[in-house]
Amino acid sequence: MYGQAIASALRLHDGREVWMAPLRPDDRDELAEAIRTADLDTLFQRFCGAPPPVTPALLAHLTELDHVRRHALVARDRDGRGVAIGRYEATRTPQVAEVAVAVATGWRRVGLATLLVRHLSDAALRNGFRWFSVTHLPGNRAVARMLRSAGAVRVGPGGEAIVPCRPCAERETPAGLPTRARAGYGTRAR
Ligand SMILES: CC(C)(COP(=O)(O)OP(=O)(O)OC[C@H]1O[C@@H](n2cnc3c(N)ncnc32)[C@H](O)[C@@H]1OP(=O)(O)O)[C@@H](O)C(=O)NCCC(=O)NCCS
Repeated sequence: MYGQAIASALRLHDGREVWMAPLRPDDRDELAEAIRTADLDTLFQRFCGAPPPVTPALLAHLTELDHVRRHALVARDRDGRGVAIGRYEATRTPQVAEVAVAVATGWRRVGLATLLVRHLSDAALRNGFRWFSVTHLPGNRAVARMLRSAGAVRVGPGGEAIVPCRPCAERETPAGLPTRARAGYGTRAR
């Protein structure tokens, strides 16, 4: 079962719009390309160290999701290109899920990661989670700041943060939604 696409366009601080939809197995090739072409620093920050090799097993793990205990959202631009991805995954601690986010370099500092975390948080809340935990490299000021914007109650210097899951204000309004985003499909993901 797949989660629903977020039907309305979401406006970023610089006026650009994105559409968010759950990541699907069909997005595998686009995700592989995004990982292969991302700069090393982004990959290091995202994976908290050397990125894993892009294997079929990794891609299956990243894209085959139940959208309850493991959920991911991809943000797409007007042309349907994936420009950011955020995911959560249940931890062994009840009601706590681990979150990770990556935003394409040309789309940073306009509120996109914060939006992704808010929408992931909304889904997580509906799926029985109450808290997000985030592990990041200690020097990652961007994610520490972003997590504070997303409502983190604790951002530790060692690279751990806790964010309460909160409902999202946005409502779904299908008008104006590009067909691919409405269907939750896409060929490119990040
Ligand atoms: C960390 C990352 C996800 C932030 O994404 P983003 O879309 O640029 O974040 P936002 O635009 O939502 O920014 C949220 C806040 O963080 C601040 N911020 C973002 N990048 C920053 C940076 N490099 N330095 C300082 N502050 C920064 C923004 O100014 C904003 O602050 P404000 O709400 O007080 O105005 C992005 O830089 C990224 O993809 N990095 C590589 C992967 C990574 O580090 N992932 C995190 C591991 S979980």
